[in-house]
Amino acid sequence: MNVFGVDIGGSGIKGAPVDLERGDLAQERCKVLTPHPAKPDAVAASVKDVVGRFGWSGPVGVTFPGVITGGVTRTAANVDESWIGLDAAALFSDALGLPVTLINDADAAGIAEMSFGAGRGHDGTVVLLTFGTGIGSAVFTGGRLLPNTELGHLELHGHDAEKRASSKAKEDHDLSWKHWAARVEEYLAHVEMLFSPDLFVIGGGVSRKADKFLPLINGIRAQIVPAQLQNNAGIVGAAMACLG
Ligand code: BGC
Repeated sequence: MNVFGVDIGGSGIKGAPVDLERGDLAQERCKVLTPHPAKPDAVAASVKDVVGRFGWSGPVGVTFPGVITGGVTRTAANVDESWIGLDAAALFSDALGLPVTLINDADAAGIAEMSFGAGRGHDGTVVLLTFGTGIGSAVFTGGRLLPNTELGHLELHGHDAEKRASSKAKEDHDLSWKHWAARVEEYLAHVEMLFSPDLFVIGGGVSRKADKFLPLINGIRAQIVPAQLQNNAGIVGAAMACLG
């Protein structure tokens, strides 16, 4: 069965039909630039553009970088604040004329990795963390997701953890791999103290360069592995979210 997945990110909006048996894209994905400012109507028009290019007329799953409950976007740490309190599922559904399921971006990446990637077959506690503009989190135990955990906003040294340890923080403060890995290590130790996971899955664009920083991280009890689906995890997870 194919379902359409759309991943809304800070720089791009990517989408493709997803083959849910294989957990992979059924066709090459399409990407448009995220409009700036990323206000709801402009983003909905871009999502419509992406979905329209495939002539798609079935269910659509969409990721969003904030807390989602009942289709409503509740937070907007790195996007326009007009999303807060908006029934975004209805906005997208009206724009597309199709049924839409909305899911947090890290939760989407997490469910995709648990079924088809680095978390496959893990029954214990698994914490997936995406390092990008912010830090996203998806927490699983017994294969079940606890949605909207928002562990990127844990406090470290009086600051939002994502402001210190995201890959944007690495760029903004021009941190070496060694210096940034020390911050990530400290952050993982904090998350480990709270959740004692068996496995950390490290996602986000930077996971492609895992060999540059994972070997520099020490003292964490849990196994730490890079995500496997990388760029497509959000799209695949968005489509999977439509299955409920
Ligand atoms: C948001 C999360 C999101 C993460 C990654 C954070 O700032 O609060 O909801 O998952 O960024 O995009």
